[in-house]
Amino acid sequence: MKDLTPNKADLDPIEIASVDEIRALQLDRLKWSVRHAYDNVPMYKARFDEAGVSPDDLQTLADLAKFPFTYKNDLRDNYPFGLFAVPRSQIIRLHASSGTTGKPTVVGYTQNDIDNWADLVARSLRASGLRRGDMVHNAYGYGLFTGGLGAHYGIERLGCTVVPMSGGQTEKQVGLITDFKPDGIMVTPSYMLNILEGFHKAGLDPRQSSLNVGIFGAEPWTDAMRREVEEAFDMHAVDIYGLSEIMGPGVANECVETKDGPVIWEDHFLPEIIDPATGEVLPDGELGELVFTTLTKEGLPMIRYRTRDLTRLLPGTARTMRRMEKITGRSDDMIILRGVNVFPTQVEEQVMATGGIAPHFQIELYTSGRMDAMRVYVEADPDAADELSKTAAARMLTKRIKDMVGVSTEIVVGDPGEVERSQGKAKRVVDNRERG
Ligand code: DLL
Repeated sequence: MKDLTPNKADLDPIEIASVDEIRALQLDRLKWSVRHAYDNVPMYKARFDEAGVSPDDLQTLADLAKFPFTYKNDLRDNYPFGLFAVPRSQIIRLHASSGTTGKPTVVGYTQNDIDNWADLVARSLRASGLRRGDMVHNAYGYGLFTGGLGAHYGIERLGCTVVPMSGGQTEKQVGLITDFKPDGIMVTPSYMLNILEGFHKAGLDPRQSSLNVGIFGAEPWTDAMRREVEEAFDMHAVDIYGLSEIMGPGVANECVETKDGPVIWEDHFLPEIIDPATGEVLPDGELGELVFTTLTKEGLPMIRYRTRDLTRLLPGTARTMRRMEKITGRSDDMIILRGVNVFPTQVEEQVMATGGIAPHFQIELYTSGRMDAMRVYVEADPDAADELSKTAAARMLTKRIKDMVGVSTEIVVGDPGEVERSQGKAKRVVDNRERG
């Protein structure tokens, strides 16, 4: 793999400023943001008043803990534009999440917000090892989803050539990557596996592709998946994190020289980790729910937004700003099976570690008697698709999940291509449990 470490001189000075300098900037911006939310969004005014706090109570960063949380449901309850802090005419872009239930959540950006977003995605790409003049194949979905356009503006902002491919049409993706020879690719990790499969189907060696780095996010993925993709393409794989409510992709991004968890761009977002049950703020290093407060957002300021993502805050390494540990899962994705907590990423690790099966998987939850049960669908590697190999792989994966995750599962090893493929975010869990 090529050494892609960026030059220190190319970084934004704040990325490597002292911790004190970063904290001072955060406090200044936090005071502005909390005041902006209170003065311009009726929900924040009502909530703060009810909790007996005012923007004047914010004198230190720790004072933020006195303020109430904001939840995804608050966006739904104020659908579509009720949480905007500027007149609608100053909003130049909307995005929305489809949402599996109920109304979508809508987010809006002013011109300054869009500029900051482009700057932060450009910073993320530079941390990933890309530079001005490179070409980037963008396979995040375009449209209301935040991934495609969020990445697009950042690619342009860094001075790169963008290939606005969007998701789907795997054969075409492979053709364009082969013909245009991009340096980097931005795509969900699960869809990258489809592209890998596309290379094999076309009889092409992915290691011979031009790609030097893949910037993967929008869904949880493991270090086991990182190794799989890095090895398959002979390229770096780095993690990009973000969420629509806070900005979109580029809230945090891993540095290619360390690959030790996404660096949170703390000059624009203040992270906290809390105990999801009590709401208590936890010290750095402890595992809990990630909460973000935006520091510069004009259109949709978010104060103490509960992401539901589970991680811990880690000290800076390649940058001064703090990192987050690679996300193991969302509290919503946690499966509780006979008292044991299971995340799809734990299953992913074991699938990757088992020989004879492809890296695609889907989990089905069902009811067996009066108990919840879990079945994992995987598929045989094309060169191990005979019944004997499939049975051996099923036995091996069952044992691994039992030993390493602690739950009994049924494993179904199908033929190559049988597991549903993702076009963007993979659907890892199908819940067929009887309700009652
Ligand atoms: O998925 C933003 C994004 C687009 C990030 C493209 C990176 C690349 P939403 O659709 O609002 O926004 O979903 C946000 O996706 O709360 C996490 O649960 C999950 N997520 C995003 N990035 C990662 C990541 C985009 N790197 C939700 N690792 C977040 C794990 C991630 N989960």
